[in-house]
Amino acid sequence: MERELALEFARVTEAAALASARWMGRGDKIAADGAAVTAMRTVLDSVQVDGVVVIGEGEMDEAPMLYIGERVGNGHAPRVDIAVDPLEGTNIVAKGLTGAIAVLAVAEEGCLLHAPDMYMDKIAVGPKAAGVIDLDAPAEVNLKAVACALGKDMADLTVVILDRPRHDGLVAAVRKAGARIQLISDGDVSPAVATAFEESGVDVMMGIGGAPEGVLAAAALKCLGGEMQGRLYPSDEHERARATAMGINPVDRLLTMNDLVRGDDVIFAATGITDGPLLRGVRFHGQEGAVTHTVVMRGRTGTVRFIEARHHLNRKPWWPVCK
Ligand code: FBP
Repeated sequence: MERELALEFARVTEAAALASARWMGRGDKIAADGAAVTAMRTVLDSVQVDGVVVIGEGEMDEAPMLYIGERVGNGHAPRVDIAVDPLEGTNIVAKGLTGAIAVLAVAEEGCLLHAPDMYMDKIAVGPKAAGVIDLDAPAEVNLKAVACALGKDMADLTVVILDRPRHDGLVAAVRKAGARIQLISDGDVSPAVATAFEESGVDVMMGIGGAPEGVLAAAALKCLGGEMQGRLYPSDEHERARATAMGINPVDRLLTMNDLVRGDDVIFAATGITDGPLLRGVRFHGQEGAVTHTVVMRGRTGTVRFIEARHHLNRKPWWPVCK
């Protein structure tokens, strides 16, 4: 993929973030998501790719736009796989909490895992701790290895975990190991990516969250030299059969970085909607002005760009459709 595409995809996540940020704190996660989807879909069509959505808003019959299998882009080469989450953290935006992003990952055709919409058990770390984690090892073993790799005392390590009853055992194990925990209400992509940035204060992301979100985070960690391991966590036989049908066989196998994202020709872009560990949320100014904060990276070169963009919303052709 040409490097110029990185900026094009940053424009796509900016659009989704701008549209959904207007819904912050208004208690309507469906409307916030709908605005993000419409904006992302509209701007995606101006990008020169022949893309197919492999991770999106659901199946064709349940999502009007950005459904799995939908073709996006202007139809010209290169042929790419696209994973999108126009609003990662719908509840976060609805309640005005921290950590919502608009996010996408793009790779050469056939290189992103077609992850079914179910849970995945995950562990994610930044580049200094890549190679020392093992999803099958007890939490304490992983945390000791990460602390050692980062040159930190266990007591200074910060582990982000989704605040869910299913994580009671994990939380107890991490506390017993002596590490610090940050429980989050939603949105595990942001902290997984943040593990690769020392200044974020996040060292490890662990626990069970969405499988699609796992692929998105893995795409970023591929660019950053970090590591994620995952294992699908189907909740019933129907989900198990679905995973098998989508080619993940055996369903319980450990998914490594190369299973999640094959090769290094990948682009990841994310724009903050609300303030988070890595990105500031959208700021609106008078006269239809707004400022966005985006991170965009390429696997080929490992270049990471943070882009602060100033927008004139009344000059954007897609804005009237989405606001
Ligand atoms: P939505 O944006 O679809 O609301 O998902 C947010 C999220 O918190 C993900 O970041 C996370 O992986 C998943 O949901 C966790 O699922 P659950 O809320 O069912 O525990």
